[in-house]
Amino acid sequence: MDRSGRMARHPPNLAILGGRPRFARKLHVGAPNLGDRGALLARIEDVLDRRWLTNNGQYVQEFERRISDHAGVRHCIAVTNATVGLQVLIRALGLSGDVILPSLTFVATAHALQWLGIRPVFCDIDPATHMMNPDRVEELITPATTGIMGVHLWGRPCAPARLGALARKHGLALVFDAAHAFGCSARGTMLGGFGRAEVFSFHATKFINSLEGGAIVTNDDALAKTLRSMINFGFSGLDAVSCLGTNAKMNEFSACAGLTSLDDMDQIRARNRQNYLAYQQGLASIAGMKLLTYDAENRSNYHYVVVEIDAVAAGLSRDEIVTALWADNVHARRYFYPGCHMMEPYRTLDPNAGARLPHTNDLCARIMLLPNGTSIGLEDVRSCCQLIKDIVARQIHVHRALSPPIPVPEPA
Ligand SMILES: Cc1ncc(COP(=O)(O)O)c(C=O)c1O
Repeated sequence: MDRSGRMARHPPNLAILGGRPRFARKLHVGAPNLGDRGALLARIEDVLDRRWLTNNGQYVQEFERRISDHAGVRHCIAVTNATVGLQVLIRALGLSGDVILPSLTFVATAHALQWLGIRPVFCDIDPATHMMNPDRVEELITPATTGIMGVHLWGRPCAPARLGALARKHGLALVFDAAHAFGCSARGTMLGGFGRAEVFSFHATKFINSLEGGAIVTNDDALAKTLRSMINFGFSGLDAVSCLGTNAKMNEFSACAGLTSLDDMDQIRARNRQNYLAYQQGLASIAGMKLLTYDAENRSNYHYVVVEIDAVAAGLSRDEIVTALWADNVHARRYFYPGCHMMEPYRTLDPNAGARLPHTNDLCARIMLLPNGTSIGLEDVRSCCQLIKDIVARQIHVHRALSPPIPVPEPA
C-alpha cells in the first residue's frame, strides 16, 4: 500500500520489504585483497626453511625497501600496525600538550595521542574535500600546541604543503596519518615524504595489506635511527639500550603477505578504479547520491567509494539506506560516524567540541562507504547501484518498514 492506501506501485523486491536478498553473499567494505596464493605460500615456506620468523628478517627488509621506493622516501620502518606506528612516532618527536587533528578520522588517530597523555584537539573539515581545513587549524593553535597531525582521508592529500607552511610558521611538528594513502600522491609527489614523517597502514582492510601491519616513512635520517631503535625495545646494539622503546616489529609472515600484495598493486588499483568508475556511472542518476571524486591531478588508489547522501533529495536518511542495503547483503558502512569527538574518552573530556565542528557533524550524518576491492566485480557494482536506485524508488515503503527506526546493524 502507498500513502493514499492504494496498492503499491512497486513490488517488494527489497529484502527490507520481505523480498529475497539481492546478493547471495555479503559484500563488505574493506574485504581483503588477496594476492597470489602460490607466491605467498612460497615465501612462507622459505621463511620456515630459514627459521627466521621476526627481528628485522629478510622479507621485512625487502618490504621496507619496496615501500620506501614506491613512496619516494629515504627510510621506511615497518611496524606491527599503524596505530602503534603513530604512537612510536609521537614519542620519538617528543610531542606533548595539545596536537591538532581532524575528528573525521578513524578513532586510532586520536587514541594514539591520548594513549601518550597528549590532548587531541579536533579541527573541523572543509566539506568539499573532507580534509581538515588549514584555516581552522591556525585558529586552534595555542601555546600548548606542539604538533599537527594531518590525515590523508580516503587517500586524498590533506593539503600537506599548506599544513607544512603553517607548522613552520608556528614552530610545530607536522606528521601525517597516511593509513589510507599508500600509492596516492599530491600533485606529482607521492604521499609519504611530507612533514617529519608519515604512517601507512597495511591492515587487512587496506589497499595493500600485510594482514596487520604499518610503516613509518621519513626523509629524516636521525629520526629514522631513533624510530628503528624504539620499535625494538630501544636497542642500539646487541646489548645496548639507548632509549625507551617498545616492541612494534613487523614479523616475517606479515612481510610475506605485504610483498605478495605489493606484487599485485597495479591490478588492485585497476580493479578499484574500474569499480569506482562503474559506481560513478550507476549512482549519477539516483537522487540524493553524490560520489566523492578524486582529483585528476593526484594519483589515487581508488580504494574508497565515498557517497554523501542528501536525505531530502533521496527521500530517505543515510541510516535508512544503510539498513536497507544490509538487508540485501550489501554491508555499506557509516565511516567515520559519529566522529572521534563523539566517542569516549573524548566525548566526556570535551563535551562541547561539537560546537566548533559543524561540517564534521553534518558529514558524519550523511556519509556512506560502499564495497570495493578485488572481491567486487563490475556486475556487483551495477547490481549494487540498481539496488540503491530501487531503495530510493521505494522510499515510502522503506521508510514505513523502518518506522520506528531499526538501528543500523553492527558488523558481526
Ligand atoms: C585513518 C586511520 N588511521 C589509523 C588507522 C589504524 O591503522 P591500523 O589498523 O594499522 O592500526 C586506520 C585503520 O585501521 C585508519 O583508517
